[in-house]
Amino acid sequence: MTQFTPTPYGIPSDNGGKDFGVFMPIANGGWILSENKPEIDGSYAYNRQAALLAEEAGVDFIMAMAKYRGYGGKTHQWDSSIDSVVAMAGLAEVTSKVKVWATIHTILQNPGVAAKMIATLDQISNGRAGLNVVTGSYRGEFAQMGAWPEDVDHDQRYDLAYEWIRAVKALWSEDSVTQNGTYFQLDDCESWPKPKKKPFTVCAGTSAKGMRFSSNEMDAIFLSGGDPKKLAEASAAAKADAAELERYIRTYSMMTIVFGKTDAEAEATAQHFREGFDEEALHGMMRAYGFLDDEIGKENDFTKKARSSFMAPHITGSPQTIVEKLTELFATADTDGLMLIFPDYIKSLPIFGQEVLPALREAFPGKVPASVDA
Ligand SMILES: Cc1cc2nc3c(=O)[nH]c(=O)nc-3n(C[C@H](O)[C@H](O)[C@H](O)COP(=O)(O)O)c2cc1C
Repeated sequence: MTQFTPTPYGIPSDNGGKDFGVFMPIANGGWILSENKPEIDGSYAYNRQAALLAEEAGVDFIMAMAKYRGYGGKTHQWDSSIDSVVAMAGLAEVTSKVKVWATIHTILQNPGVAAKMIATLDQISNGRAGLNVVTGSYRGEFAQMGAWPEDVDHDQRYDLAYEWIRAVKALWSEDSVTQNGTYFQLDDCESWPKPKKKPFTVCAGTSAKGMRFSSNEMDAIFLSGGDPKKLAEASAAAKADAAELERYIRTYSMMTIVFGKTDAEAEATAQHFREGFDEEALHGMMRAYGFLDDEIGKENDFTKKARSSFMAPHITGSPQTIVEKLTELFATADTDGLMLIFPDYIKSLPIFGQEVLPALREAFPGKVPASVDA
């Protein structure tokens, strides 16, 4: 099979290394559904501090999700969230090396607006901008603002996303764009300034249609789950799918890291979170995911998994153990990177930067050539 190579973006995966990113906590509560978690208010001030620490730690990218409705409960999980693009513009100004990736919903923003937002982020960040493309999956977030197209189903939302991203890419590179689609009509549409180079694009669609969308249009895909063997299969499948389309795709996954001075201390912290599990916020999350009222309150695979209180896969341990677990993850899964979540970003990022990242860089070298470093 022909090997396709990545477009260089000044990140380690350009040359076979691993990219490390931080999932910025732009919504209150971070990614733990527990009354016992450290306070994360989701404010810009907290994110600014976290972004500076992420850059100092030497991570490659920071990314902010876009969220319009939280899950409530005792912890008011995600009820307050700052805007993804505006937040990343601020964080681009206070950082100078780390890539800054913002999220935009294709059902919410006109491609002409989105192209200009990211071109502006590109200018502010001096070429570090990236775009996380999301179709919008959760009806309640958009119906509340009259922005949920009832006649457009899940797969059609990806048809819409194809038109959207092709329009955005054309507006980034062409003087005039005319596109007569089902969802978007552009007529001699102009968008200036152009970004320095095409901004990095990533999508986290996990359905067959969503994954195919990434293979066709994105620089990277976020794979779900934390099991290294399953990630290995998913990563190989995504790369094979992209190769079939004569493209290369980077594969990422997510991980929450719970540090302790010892493994026992880290596990005790995770257990403490589990004991404070916010049942009401779980119900809010299930409603958002489309569970029907009579399913809420019953036990199923979803609730069993959620009861860990972690909304994303997690590992616990001393810094040394975390190095070992992540080395094992990459050795098995052969993915291109990891987006990190911490219960407490301010305490954990310096530990990650000093005691974990150097060992992982050594284990998986990927030199970034100066010519593409923005
Ligand atoms: C890393 C990651 C980031 C995501 N960011 C967002 C986001 O900011 N906003 C959103 O509505 N959905 C977000 N999602 C959900 C996905 O975009 C996607 O809708 C979901 O994984 C379901 O896949 P599907 O659309 O193919 O069914 C994210 C998912 C992951 C794993």
